[in-house]
Amino acid sequence: MANSSVFPSLFFFFFLLLVSHNPLPASAYSFTEFVFPNFTATNVRFIDNGGAFLFSRNGSFKAAISNPGGQQTRFYLCVIHSASGTVIWSANRDGPISNSGTMAFTRDGISVSDHDGSPKWSIPTIPKSSAAAALQLTESGNLVLLDKSNASLWESFDDPADTIVAGQILRKNGNALFSSVSGEDFSTGDYRLAFSDSDVILGWRGQSYWKLSMDPRAYTDSTSPVESMAVNGTGLFLFGRNGSIVVARVALPPADFRIARLASSGQFIVSSFSHGGMKEELDGPNNVCQIPSICGEIGWCSVSTGNNPTCQCPPGFRSKASNSDSFNGCVPSDSSSSLVGSSCSNNGSQVNSSSPPISYLSLGNGMDYFALDFSQPTKYALNLSACQEFCTTDCACLGIFYDNSSGSCYTIENDLGSFMSSRDRDSDQVGYIKTVESADKSSSGGNRGSVNETHNRKQFPLAALVLLPCIAVAVVLAAGLVWWRRWKIAGEKVRLSHANSFSSDEMDAFYIPGLPQRFDYEELDEATDRFKMQIGSGGFGSVYKGVLSDKSVVAVKKITNVGIQGKRDFCTEIAIIGNVHHVNLVKLRGFCAQGRQRLLVYEYMNRGSLDRTLFASSGPVLEWQERFEIALGTARGLAYLHTGCEHKIIHCDVKPENILLQDQFQAKISDFGLSKLLGPEQSSLFTTMRGTRGYLAPEWLTNSAISEKTDVYSYGMVLLELVSGRKNCSIKSASPSQGGGHSTTTTTTSSSSAQFGGMVYFPLVALEMHEQRRYVELADARLEGRVRSEEVEKLVRVALCCVHEEPCLRPSMVSVVGMLEGGISLGEPRMESLNFLRFYGRRFAEASILGEDGNNEQREALLNSRQEYGTSNYSSTISDPQYIPLSFISSQQISGPR
Ligand SMILES: *[C@@H]1O[C@H](CO)[C@@H](O)[C@H](O)[C@H]1NC(C)=O
Ligand SMILES: *[C@@H]1O[C@H](CO)[C@@H](O)[C@H](O)[C@H]1NC(C)=O
Ligand SMILES: *[C@@H]1O[C@H](CO)[C@@H](O)[C@H](O)[C@H]1NC(C)=O
Ligand SMILES: *[C@@H]1O[C@H](CO)[C@@H](O)[C@H](O)[C@H]1NC(C)=O
Ligand SMILES: *[C@@H]1O[C@H](CO)[C@@H](O)[C@H](O)[C@H]1NC(C)=O
Ligand SMILES: *[C@@H]1O[C@H](CO)[C@@H](O)[C@H](O)[C@H]1NC(C)=O
Ligand SMILES: *[C@@H]1O[C@H](CO)[C@@H](O)[C@H](O)[C@H]1NC(C)=O
Ligand SMILES: *[C@@H]1O[C@H](CO)[C@@H](O)[C@H](O)[C@H]1NC(C)=O
Ligand SMILES: *[C@@H]1O[C@H](CO)[C@@H](O)[C@H](O)[C@H]1NC(C)=O
Repeated sequence: MANSSVFPSLFFFFFLLLVSHNPLPASAYSFTEFVFPNFTATNVRFIDNGGAFLFSRNGSFKAAISNPGGQQTRFYLCVIHSASGTVIWSANRDGPISNSGTMAFTRDGISVSDHDGSPKWSIPTIPKSSAAAALQLTESGNLVLLDKSNASLWESFDDPADTIVAGQILRKNGNALFSSVSGEDFSTGDYRLAFSDSDVILGWRGQSYWKLSMDPRAYTDSTSPVESMAVNGTGLFLFGRNGSIVVARVALPPADFRIARLASSGQFIVSSFSHGGMKEELDGPNNVCQIPSICGEIGWCSVSTGNNPTCQCPPGFRSKASNSDSFNGCVPSDSSSSLVGSSCSNNGSQVNSSSPPISYLSLGNGMDYFALDFSQPTKYALNLSACQEFCTTDCACLGIFYDNSSGSCYTIENDLGSFMSSRDRDSDQVGYIKTVESADKSSSGGNRGSVNETHNRKQFPLAALVLLPCIAVAVVLAAGLVWWRRWKIAGEKVRLSHANSFSSDEMDAFYIPGLPQRFDYEELDEATDRFKMQIGSGGFGSVYKGVLSDKSVVAVKKITNVGIQGKRDFCTEIAIIGNVHHVNLVKLRGFCAQGRQRLLVYEYMNRGSLDRTLFASSGPVLEWQERFEIALGTARGLAYLHTGCEHKIIHCDVKPENILLQDQFQAKISDFGLSKLLGPEQSSLFTTMRGTRGYLAPEWLTNSAISEKTDVYSYGMVLLELVSGRKNCSIKSASPSQGGGHSTTTTTTSSSSAQFGGMVYFPLVALEMHEQRRYVELADARLEGRVRSEEVEKLVRVALCCVHEEPCLRPSMVSVVGMLEGGISLGEPRMESLNFLRFYGRRFAEASILGEDGNNEQREALLNSRQEYGTSNYSSTISDPQYIPLSFISSQQISGPR
């Protein structure tokens, strides 16, 4: 009650201060943290403060009627970061006022009107029952309207323009960021940042062009749907489950003030304030040619030095602008015109007997369009004329991209942006603009590309996020916290061990922080029904399905093949493995170390391992999109093992059997960290049992240093198998069921040096086809062309880079993720480091055919080829065709090692 009378008098006090002591020295602004009704501000009235009338407590932010860029016609009610002069919010962005326009604050709310009284902006009507009592600018830059009990009635943080600051949350429901037209004109521009389920995506007129996960530093923690985004002193975060979990993050250096803005350029820029200026820390898209209208409609963007775009017109088009210095897009050189801006209102095709014919104007070879990375082909397996016909009958279609090698037909709708040169010079992709004779060009189409149009959801890609190394202090702290908590829990959970005690440390007289749940042997014996249902076996022993007392289904791995490690050492390693959490890694639920028993309890993956689905001779074929997701998920999981967690973990046994699938083909890597369970006395065992043949990197066999690049090699081999759907070393297939009219590996390689008798060594096929740039033919014939040719190429090229003989030439898993996501450009496989495949493959196949022991054949293969050619650099000998003899004739079936 008392307060209601306090406010008017306070108001009076402050009003006097404002009016009589104006201008105030900077330090005195701290008094103006609040204003009270009735209050009005104009730029002129507060001209001595640059229009600022309200300051946060210590002056970090100010609210002002201000004219950005010093122009004199557009004044906005803004919140400004004082030290940098950055505008973080503007109210009347689409209704600028003159310098004598007014901001008025009454008990009914806040409104902005021009000098003639015409309303330009106001907050939503506040409920009748409450009345505004004060307007506060908080220390985080939030302009808050308070009622008399200091409850918030409205906040500028809930109504973002193009920027969010630390402390502000951008929510999926309701909020999006829209760019401004320019730094001086804050009107809503065409670029938009919105949420997908797993990401935030930039869009332009219904077409997507960038997503956060494309940034190589973006790093996914969870598959929960994304609901909000925020920045703070340590990075940029996407949250799910009502803000309770982090779904993805980009860790950034500590900063006091950080903003994320969708800039008028179309780039999403995160910057922080340091040394008196704003420093950009993240910008996407990084390649300026990926910005949709960088060169205007149908402009052709190329990047010159320093990431500056150069704009020109594609052949067959001329610049719209008459003078060359104001490039704003292109139009056909002939008398036709594109259909941009034509209306689609008569619901059907633009063609009928009375309308002029539609034609297609080629953009020339090697063109690419920003949205293609975000869209699925509209149609598959069409010929070019059928693709054009499809576009002709769709009045929303403005142009097509057609991939000759796969028959994929993409349509461009809503609007035409700029084009760029394809990153791949030998791309089979051709673009066409749909045109009509100008005379008939519809004159309507005014508000195409309206900023309010809803984003085209079909263009949102599936969940796809990039990993990156995080060495951030936060992780260490978090891990420390978890350890400490687990330590306490583990302390409570210790149980006396089983009677068949064996080792001296049997009494569990040690506590290791971070241990996951410890199970009794009997408990697991019961859960698995006396180890009845075996679901797999691997290098370390057999795996059984079980159901715990809490009804959760688990996979129990009984370690048998290795010597028994001391319990303490075992537990130390378990503690490490148990604390590695990532969506693409199989979660360790617990363990049992009792007597001689060593068991690991994992989450159960209901679809089993990748090899079962991928190599299955019956059942549904693994579709391309799923394969690509699996490739990406596996890469993310490995990248996390290598760089994302506190202890670097080298998997050492990457192969399809260790990639497990769950619903939606989410891939998770299993068996990571197990190499650490082996004692030093078992290291010889280690080399021989490690790695199944075909996935072993050459350095395993030459006793060179094993590093994370060893996993990269194995991953590359797995990628090739994902592409072909067959084991890398397999019997040449002449099965008619694989013919299907589509060119198959079998047919294309009939004269290839990749065949050794009845064997095909696929990595070598891939290498040869790469040399000829014929990627699509490598794809699994069972897919019958349902592939995205650019993704096939991507996987093959990444795979070849991964299997470079020299470990240092292989990309890191983090780069692999970036390449698959498109955030970094594809590497070029280096022939001199791949020629070893030619010999490796032949010897390998030879050894297989002769039925040698699976553990040694690959070693033999490599060593023999080395002896024969006396060098690891085969480039000199390989140029001589005589060195590719094909003399090992045997169609004998080999028994797979698995
Ligand atoms: C504020 O202005 C409104 C009209 O806009 C008027 O009705 C009200 O009495 C004024 N209140 C004060 C405290 O001056
Ligand atoms: C303003 O106060 C906040 C805490 O309220 C502090 O974090 C910030 O550093 C201060 N800024 C200045 C310029 O003193
Ligand atoms: C509202 O906040 C102001 C400033 O923080 C304070 O002086 C006042 O007592 C608060 N009023 C109530 C009802 O809490
Ligand atoms: C930023 O937010 C993340 C996620 O909520 C949190 O873990 C981190 O501690 C925050 N950083 C700061 C400096 O507040
Ligand atoms: C989300 O959190 C807010 C405040 O933190 C709470 O009021 C709301 O009930 C929560 N919603 C759900 C669905 O948990
Ligand atoms: C256009 O199609 C929509 C539904 O597809 C229909 O509701 C609308 O009436 C049609 N308009 C015209 C002009 O035919
Ligand atoms: C054909 O198009 C013209 C205008 O383009 C329209 O007036 C006419 O009604 C259309 N005819 C049919 C059959 O759709
Ligand atoms: C393209 O395909 C259509 C049917 O899909 C066929 O009728 C047409 O002849 C084909 N055109 C060419 C040039 O092959
Ligand atoms: C498209 O592919 C076909 C065969 O697949 C070939 O005959 C034709 O020349 C190719 N066209 C172009 C433009 O590359």
